[in-house]
Amino acid sequence: MLAVLSSRKWGIGGKEIERLERRFARLHSAAYGVAVMNGTVALEVALKAGRVGDGDEVILPSYTFAATATAVLNVNAIPVFVDIDADTYCIDPQSVRAALSPRTKAIIPVHLAGHPADMDALTNIASERDLFLIEDACQAHFAEWAGQRVGSIGHIGAFSFQSSKNVTSGEGGIVLTKDEDLAERCWSYHNCGRSPKGEWYHHPRLGGNYRMTQFQAALLLAQLTRAKKHHQTRQRSARYLTAKLTGLPGISPLKVDARVTSHAYHLFVIRYDKVQYAGLERSALLNALNAEGIPAVRGYVPLYREGFLSEAREFTLRHRAYAERDYSGVDCPNTERACNEAIWLPQNVLLGAREDLDDVVRAFQKVIENRDELASAQLHDG
Ligand SMILES: Cc1ncc(COP(=O)(O)O)c(C=O)c1O
Repeated sequence: MLAVLSSRKWGIGGKEIERLERRFARLHSAAYGVAVMNGTVALEVALKAGRVGDGDEVILPSYTFAATATAVLNVNAIPVFVDIDADTYCIDPQSVRAALSPRTKAIIPVHLAGHPADMDALTNIASERDLFLIEDACQAHFAEWAGQRVGSIGHIGAFSFQSSKNVTSGEGGIVLTKDEDLAERCWSYHNCGRSPKGEWYHHPRLGGNYRMTQFQAALLLAQLTRAKKHHQTRQRSARYLTAKLTGLPGISPLKVDARVTSHAYHLFVIRYDKVQYAGLERSALLNALNAEGIPAVRGYVPLYREGFLSEAREFTLRHRAYAERDYSGVDCPNTERACNEAIWLPQNVLLGAREDLDDVVRAFQKVIENRDELASAQLHDG
């Protein structure tokens, strides 16, 4: 950071960004990386590079962060929400198949919580139908599907370095690809539409300024020296928590697909069955856990009911096919269930010591012991 400061090259002209791009790409078996401001614009740049735009349909899971869908709207394409797999919460390939239409141009699987989506099935669908495959790997640094690092399995991978992420510079992102032409297009869209070999004031494409600063890149390069160790620590902690929590009634950590060779554990996700807790609402359980100092949260709501979908209709340039699209009938049962049952523990909990993990287990045990009391207090409040 001090070297960047004294170099006086805080943006273009410095060397840290290029070093980061090369290193992060190599670590994910990609040939090219383009560092950007955040994961949201990484997805937008990826869509533009794949020529996804006006009126094209893009299939994505309905259980994800809003940016997966807003990026699609921001390139004037149409998000098509499909359901997730009940066991892993990742996009369900069967639902993807059912949603294919002549307008489908791309699929965005999300490696949710750091668990890779079923890239075998999705790669097959994409190649059969000649679709553009963008991995939303914002939560999945260093995750592996069947021995392959995510982010370079599809055409483009998009990562985030936002504050909550496993590798962070406060804000930041990167797109990865193995394809030279796509890399060139990504570079152009993130850099005001310039051409890599063209004049500085020459803008052959309609891009934006999505560049990262050298300070962010320096922070990330330092983070990468510890990232592998942190990755392994999270995995060890997840195994420990899974073993300790699995026996408790009504509490089940999410399953891991046998083809996942490395899970990034951006989140440790637990399914909660309130029936086994005398009907104790998840919100009351979360309050009780939070009171014990455990930073557990409830997570997403179904994306197809979010307000941005109707607000997007107010944009005058929206494609007619979007105006005609009705999201009110979308119903994804596994997504609904996930939104009602999930409990998330953020990745930094998994970086704690063994005693910290034991605290988590103790907090769950305490709630279990007091479940009747907590449930009747809830009834009383209700
Ligand atoms: C699945 C997913 N997609 C996209 C994003 C967007 O990344 P950012 O917050 O860096 O814009 C995030 C992170 O917040 C995310 O979790």
